[in-house]
Amino acid sequence: MIQEVEKYLAEAEAFTSNDLGEVEKFRIRFLGKKGILNKLFAEFKSVPAEDKKTYGQMLNKLKRLVSEKVKKLKETIENQSETQSGREDLTKPGYPYKLGAKHPVNLVKNRIVDIFRRIGFNVSEGPEIEDDWHNFSALNLPEYHPARDMQDTFFIQRHPDWLLRTHTSSVQIRYMEKHKPPIRTISPGRVYRNEDISARAHIQFHQVEGLYIDKGVSFADLKQTIMYFTKEMFGKSKVRFRPSYFPFTEPSAEVDIYWGLKTEDDYRITKGTGWLEIMGAGMVDPNVLQNMQIDPEQYSGFAFGMGIERIAMLLYGISDIRMLFENDMRFLEQFKSRF
Ligand code: PHE
Repeated sequence: MIQEVEKYLAEAEAFTSNDLGEVEKFRIRFLGKKGILNKLFAEFKSVPAEDKKTYGQMLNKLKRLVSEKVKKLKETIENQSETQSGREDLTKPGYPYKLGAKHPVNLVKNRIVDIFRRIGFNVSEGPEIEDDWHNFSALNLPEYHPARDMQDTFFIQRHPDWLLRTHTSSVQIRYMEKHKPPIRTISPGRVYRNEDISARAHIQFHQVEGLYIDKGVSFADLKQTIMYFTKEMFGKSKVRFRPSYFPFTEPSAEVDIYWGLKTEDDYRITKGTGWLEIMGAGMVDPNVLQNMQIDPEQYSGFAFGMGIERIAMLLYGISDIRMLFENDMRFLEQFKSRF
């Protein structure tokens, strides 16, 4: 009797087919009501006691083998016919599609870019590894200029002339090399400074630079453009321009917006003043225009630059800038519903 089961096991083991009908026949032959397995189970009574254990185990093995084989063959055949006919089963539930989230730095960058696009600015980019000319000298910061110390620069040791750009103002220069006025461009990008990393400062961050050059551009144009921007970005258009110094603009200003002092957060964010610094700006220094072969007697322009992380932290209530660079999924997934 054991030999008989062995014969069936071999048969089931060897069986294969590409035809659903044949697989079904095979299933019925073994697993059907009047099938082989039921017949064999019925014979259990007459198996000698010492063989009962082996016999039972073999029957179970046979049953498992047949069921698994039937299931597998059916699946393969069905998949084949699906791809062969090119027709999917449209009633099948969809595969779950894992959605990512935009990074908060990108969310803010996109908003800024969008706001300036609407008033005719295009988008330009430049390299993160820069040379001295584009990052400093052309921007009216000659060698040994004390203002170079303001920007703790990462230099590239083997190439004394190369560095990681400390601001996106280098893209102004690259843009003016290739384009004649009228110029209206914004340049988002990553910048680097050799600073101690803390909750407020990092060695890498992002800026958006703006440059507008045409005939008759005045400080009033700068002011209106910034007010339009703060209104669109924060819903606030009360701004003040504090005199400041940048080598590449004259006059230069630090721009603050009036954030308000309604909540405890307002107090914390603005250190109790209600005002918040958001960017540096000014009229493009005639020396810079001259460096770029643009006649300062004919043309004038303004430029501004702002940090993206600062704004992202403000808008989303992020307390530590390092979170923006750690790629912790628990943090990033919180931005899923934003766009
Ligand atoms: N490049 C300046 C900075 O990084 C910002 C700035 C840009 C100021 C353009 C004036 C004009 O601090």
